[in-house]
Amino acid sequence: MELIFATNNSHKITEIQGILGTWITLKNLNDIKCTEDIPETGSTLEANATQKSFYIYNRYHVNCFADDTGLEVEALNGAPGVYSARYAGEQRNASDNMCKLLNDLGDEKNRKAQFRTVISLIINGTEYQFEGVVEGHITSTQSGSKGFGYDPVFVPEGYDITMAEMDLHEKNKISHRASAIKKMVQFLNQS
Ligand code: IMP
Repeated sequence: MELIFATNNSHKITEIQGILGTWITLKNLNDIKCTEDIPETGSTLEANATQKSFYIYNRYHVNCFADDTGLEVEALNGAPGVYSARYAGEQRNASDNMCKLLNDLGDEKNRKAQFRTVISLIINGTEYQFEGVVEGHITSTQSGSKGFGYDPVFVPEGYDITMAEMDLHEKNKISHRASAIKKMVQFLNQS
């Protein structure tokens, strides 16, 4: 089957390509000639994922999915959460976001955090959602150059390296997005 992934983020596309079964052909927004900025105005990850997937389904009439991810930090009452992409401002810059996060946490002892991904899948107009979570903690400095976003400041539970120090195969064993995608693939396998 053919599925459109409603994202322009090439890191996300690379990450999930290896997880999807060979019977799923992954297409992206370029493939359907979608160049618009897809709105993300919800106040939850669930609402944003739904908004993005229905935006594509309603305009292009194709089976598709969208994801929305947030970094939820316990000592910051779940922030930046749904506002993770623009935590340090509308420039949506990963380095600025990490600097603000490390600054906001200061020397806080409780550095527990989790990444949470929500996927909204639309098949023939019906929506299905899948969630993936990885728990861990926030470091005090950035480390590593792989991955993207907040990866250089996040150490998953059971590891002593950041997600930006892991190769893709390792990140895909444990990541929030990989876990949500695996649930989606299992669902599609059974349907
Ligand atoms: P979105 O899902 O693309 O809206 O991502 C929200 C924010 O979380 C952005 O700042 C992303 O860079 C960041 N983000 C999403 N997925 C990951 C990830 O796998 N690792 C690190 N940061 C991520």
